[in-house]
Amino acid sequence: MISQKSVQEVIEKARIEDVVEDYVTLKRRGVNMLGLCPFHNEKTPSFTVSPAKNIYKCFGCGKAGNPVQFVMEHESFSFPEALRFLAKKYNIELEETVSSQESIEERQHFDSLYLINQFAKESFQENLFETPEGKSIGLSYFKERGFREETIKKFGLGYTLNKRDAFTLKAIQKGYNIQLLKELGLTSKYDKDFFRSRVMFSIHNLTGKVLGFGGRILDNTIKAPKYVNSPETEIYNKSKILYGAYFAKGAIRKEEECIMVEGYTDVLALHQAGIENVVSSSGTSLTVDQIRLVKRFTPNMKILYDGDQAGVKAALRGLDLVLEQDMNVKVVLLPDGEDPDSYLNKVGASKFKTYLTENADDFIFFKTKLLMEEAKGDPIKKTKMIKDIVSSIARIPDPIKRSLYIKQCAATVDVSEQILVTESNKVVGQNIRKREQRNQRNNTYPRPTSGTSTPSTGSGEFPTQEPNIPTDSEEYPTEAASPAQKQTTDPTAFKEKDIIRILISSGGMPFDQEEDMTVCAYVIQNIEEIIDDFDNKLYENIAKECRSLLQEGKQFDQQYFINHSDPAIGQLAIELIHSPFEYSPNWQEKWEITLQTQKAPEDNFTKDSIQSLYRFKLDKLIKMCTKNQTRIQEASKTGDADQVMLYLKVQQKLLQMRNELAKKLNTVIFK
Ligand code: UTP
Ligand code: MN
Repeated sequence: MISQKSVQEVIEKARIEDVVEDYVTLKRRGVNMLGLCPFHNEKTPSFTVSPAKNIYKCFGCGKAGNPVQFVMEHESFSFPEALRFLAKKYNIELEETVSSQESIEERQHFDSLYLINQFAKESFQENLFETPEGKSIGLSYFKERGFREETIKKFGLGYTLNKRDAFTLKAIQKGYNIQLLKELGLTSKYDKDFFRSRVMFSIHNLTGKVLGFGGRILDNTIKAPKYVNSPETEIYNKSKILYGAYFAKGAIRKEEECIMVEGYTDVLALHQAGIENVVSSSGTSLTVDQIRLVKRFTPNMKILYDGDQAGVKAALRGLDLVLEQDMNVKVVLLPDGEDPDSYLNKVGASKFKTYLTENADDFIFFKTKLLMEEAKGDPIKKTKMIKDIVSSIARIPDPIKRSLYIKQCAATVDVSEQILVTESNKVVGQNIRKREQRNQRNNTYPRPTSGTSTPSTGSGEFPTQEPNIPTDSEEYPTEAASPAQKQTTDPTAFKEKDIIRILISSGGMPFDQEEDMTVCAYVIQNIEEIIDDFDNKLYENIAKECRSLLQEGKQFDQQYFINHSDPAIGQLAIELIHSPFEYSPNWQEKWEITLQTQKAPEDNFTKDSIQSLYRFKLDKLIKMCTKNQTRIQEASKTGDADQVMLYLKVQQKLLQMRNELAKKLNTVIFK
């Protein structure tokens, strides 16, 4: 694990504007900087960087964070990976402690595997570009197929020589362990090279590390499979990897769509033609993990198949999985005998793109049409087919979407909508029951949606399993539910949030210089007796953390919360500090009069905190009054006069407090 000291050092040294400008062009705009958001497609910039606060925030999609979070998001890095990346950029030496002997070994083991693969990739590249055999056979083959040198280099393509053990010997000479070479499938059990006279495709994980290889034979007179691939290893889990994902992830996010093709060469060809949001399942049929991988970047998927009907139908069966993951799936069927690569070469990039747009068919409709054709007039087949389609539709989690599909399908297959609805409800019911039974067996309950995992625990060494990036669909808030866009309408929640805003944004500021009291001290003193009464647990935790900091005499500022180890707190801090108040024209109008004579509330934290505190307390008092009122009524029903008297007295006191507070609040507000 990276030591806390090193984590701090990175957080302190990394400048948000430096880090972002490696990817985004920024323009000065007052104290902030503005650019086009790298996380969603936009034409007018709403991506704001605040050098003073060392944070970024997009007012379009709501993404926000500090420099570490920016690289995590942008590069799909785990927390430790992001730290290492920034440490390199800023020449910081990280102190890494390892908790147990076992994990040192594990770590070193994985490191060695990656290192050997990297060595293999480089030596295959060397073969391709620098040996006569590689140049005349491998490189000329790639060039003949239309791949440019930049593409060949970018994707780490290579060549293996037609020798029995050239690579293995070279690796051993370099000091690599033969056991590990065998484990990676680079060397056979008889100490020979596994890949020979093949052009090589390196398979990368999301952070660009090499997990394994695919090799294509060129001589079709040799009786061997066209492609051979690295075996599954500790670092290469085929069902969790998509070829090309490392090079596609940025484009997938931007285009808000992922194009799925079958082969390595299809990925290369499309990418080279400027269609960069493309990945491949490399011959295997799609798995749930691969779909989840895509879903981390977009819910929209377009699958390109060649015209061969049998293949398409086989592939379609597995696709119900995609629907279950609530993905929007479109299918494009290419003309007979063409694959994406060949068709692209035939018609050119611009016609190809038009073809994709014009021929994309919704998966369900595609399936319906295909099966309809097959059933043609055979009632038994048709019944079976309708059941098949309904069971696909029933997997769609969104009921509105489901009913739209049913409407459309009823029209296509010429069956009454009602029948399909009944049938679909049956299946939905069965699915729910199955899920419930499963849950009961596993005794699992739905998890809360807010991420509460702390990034610092991630080891980040596994290729696909980045512990702090949840892969479960429920844990992925959609854009609409991002903290920035979720408007709080509940008045109590608003008041609670406002107290937290004061604590986070100006808790460390002096409230009363003479008394040497901070805003935090003032607020905490005033809410001490109701600190357990927050409705929102996150807010309560923050208030309590402030109380502990206060008790321990620790100083803190905005950065303390922005860089909090609990990402939920970090996000909230950014939302509260970088508040849209600064930008809202409404705000100007509303406060215009006061603006001339007094500072904006953000700077005027004394007044700001008193107001917010009064509002918070008033709200709690009103609630207590209501609660007590119920007690009075209940006591009267039972006829307990003493009890009624007691509660009435309490009520009187509460009302008095409430009125005083309301009065104070008015004077503060309107003074
Ligand atoms: P294709 O046979 O369509 O190959 O298999 P391709 O990618 O179009 O390659 P070219 O154009 O013939 O050079 C599609 C994918 O299926 C996997 C590979 O991942 C390939 O890219 N495959 C195919 C294998 O793993 N083994 C094989 O023997 C064949
Ligand atoms: Mn092909």
